[in-house]
Amino acid sequence: MCGIVGYIGEGDAKEVILEGLEKLEYRGYDSAGIAILKDDVIQIVKKSGKLSILNDYLEKNPISGNLGIGHTRWATHGAPTESNSHPHYSEDRKVVVVHNGIIENYQQLKKGLIEKGYKFESETDTEVIAHLYHSLYKGNSIEALKNLIQLIRGSYALGIIHSDNKDELLCCRNESPLIIGIGENENFIASDVPALLKYTKKVHFLENGDYGKITKSNIELYDINNNLVEREVNTIEWTLEQATKGGYEHFMIKEIHEQPETLRQTLERVVNYHDYSINFEEIIKKDELEKIENIHIIACGTAYHAGLQGEYMIEKIAKLPVATEIASEFRYSNPFVDKKSLCIFVSQSGETLDTILAMKECKKRGAMTLAITNVVGSTISRDADKVIYTMAGPEIGVASTKAYTNQVLNFFLLAIYFAELKECISSDEKKLLLEEVKKIPQQIEVLLEDLELIKETSEYFKNVTNGFYIGRGLDYKVALEGSLKMKEVSYIHTESLPAGELKHGTIALIEEGLPTVVLCTQTELLEKSVSNIRELKSRGSYIISVTNEENTEVIANSDVTLLIPKTIDILSGLLSVIPLQLLAYYTSLNKGIDVDKPRNLAKSVTVE
Ligand code: F6R
Repeated sequence: MCGIVGYIGEGDAKEVILEGLEKLEYRGYDSAGIAILKDDVIQIVKKSGKLSILNDYLEKNPISGNLGIGHTRWATHGAPTESNSHPHYSEDRKVVVVHNGIIENYQQLKKGLIEKGYKFESETDTEVIAHLYHSLYKGNSIEALKNLIQLIRGSYALGIIHSDNKDELLCCRNESPLIIGIGENENFIASDVPALLKYTKKVHFLENGDYGKITKSNIELYDINNNLVEREVNTIEWTLEQATKGGYEHFMIKEIHEQPETLRQTLERVVNYHDYSINFEEIIKKDELEKIENIHIIACGTAYHAGLQGEYMIEKIAKLPVATEIASEFRYSNPFVDKKSLCIFVSQSGETLDTILAMKECKKRGAMTLAITNVVGSTISRDADKVIYTMAGPEIGVASTKAYTNQVLNFFLLAIYFAELKECISSDEKKLLLEEVKKIPQQIEVLLEDLELIKETSEYFKNVTNGFYIGRGLDYKVALEGSLKMKEVSYIHTESLPAGELKHGTIALIEEGLPTVVLCTQTELLEKSVSNIRELKSRGSYIISVTNEENTEVIANSDVTLLIPKTIDILSGLLSVIPLQLLAYYTSLNKGIDVDKPRNLAKSVTVE
């Protein structure tokens, strides 16, 4: 849940680390710190609050050196105070540690260290590592690191420097991501690729259990079994431009605008429009699908909402039974999963711990696992039997937008592919579906052209504290996502409900002026949705509908209508979610909220 950057080389470690941390602030931003080794002394500076506070301080009080580690934190143990911020020192100030993850047995380790006379300055689990490394070090850094890993339990990515070994940067990972960037006479570590793009595009993705020693000209890595290993050198295709704001005020709006392009890229990669074939043969073969009796889609948050659309699409198009489940619940539900199950894990980051652990559970039960993820080399992508990359490009805004639509599109294509394998779709039907989806990127471009009405509607939200998002069928699944977007970036409490469920209790909350966003895109359910709108309107609710221009009854009964282009019902979610993303974004702006870094949230949730 935190961001780590480390540097060893001939350049200014402080500059590299601060720039890298800025790119990682999406991973956590309630405090930040840096440690630089100069001569024989490691100097630490840390500040609670955003990275800019640390930056400002260092401008006035510069430090310099060629070896250092830095950290941007999202608190898990102990409040986001200066003393709890990373890096953490050993008592003699010689060992310094940054950590991402949670050390589960830290209380027990801490007790043992206190008994040995170690004194603690913070409430964190991380400080244990600094003291423990110190107690294990007998002149050989790799030996000490190896022994440390054997004693700690939990998820971690670690960067360690020790003033006795001025030419070494140590690192290791288990469950939390860590990469090594490869440079010329310099090397790097980081939690994620954007931190290093300015300096290198060549990286090693560490495997679980990997640990090693990095100098400016050498990388020495060991695997979980203590064998010396050479990890693959991956070349990152993302440009720095892609990983930064590209002229937009915020990442969220940039990423909303990137959706036509990223969806187009996915279509180009997966669909051959000459013969309407879908390029998923690598993913699952006919004989493999024939053995599958049930499908589970497992994810968290927005990825879960994409999964709900996926369930609908696979059931409708491929006529296979699907259950979509929240990862944190699934794992403890003793699920009906066995070797006849296909378990699909959806995760933008590929590092969400709840999803990773749910995958482990499914693997234990013999299920086939398929990941739909956006990050090449992420834990989920490496643990799964099969992977579909959403290729949405780096998503930096905390609120997921372009990853969501890419996940939904991949589900749509997967549903058609499964239907084809099962021979339950005619070539005409398939052609129609693929022609309709081909129009989606351009239809989103149209939606993004004129934002005036959405901006005006967001003014209405500025002064409200509660709202509802409702819909029927597929519309309900999009309502869930619209409501989540509004909550996370505007801090307005919104609730999403199947429209027909309102009258069973929640309608008691409707009062004059309370906004209800009503999604009305499903032809068969339109009449019923119009009745719901009337029910709400007669009780004073302010109705914002999302529909296409043919649905005149909906429009006539609404206070505001956010129009979307006409598509086939099953694809409408890819369009109707766009005004909802925008509405959340502009409401956040109106309220003066830091939309890319809303409070209490982090981009990648690597704790249970
Ligand atoms: C909301 C959001 C979160 C994530 C969830 C899962 O905008 O981004 O709800 O969708 O934390 O994250 P990933 O997809 O990285 O597994």
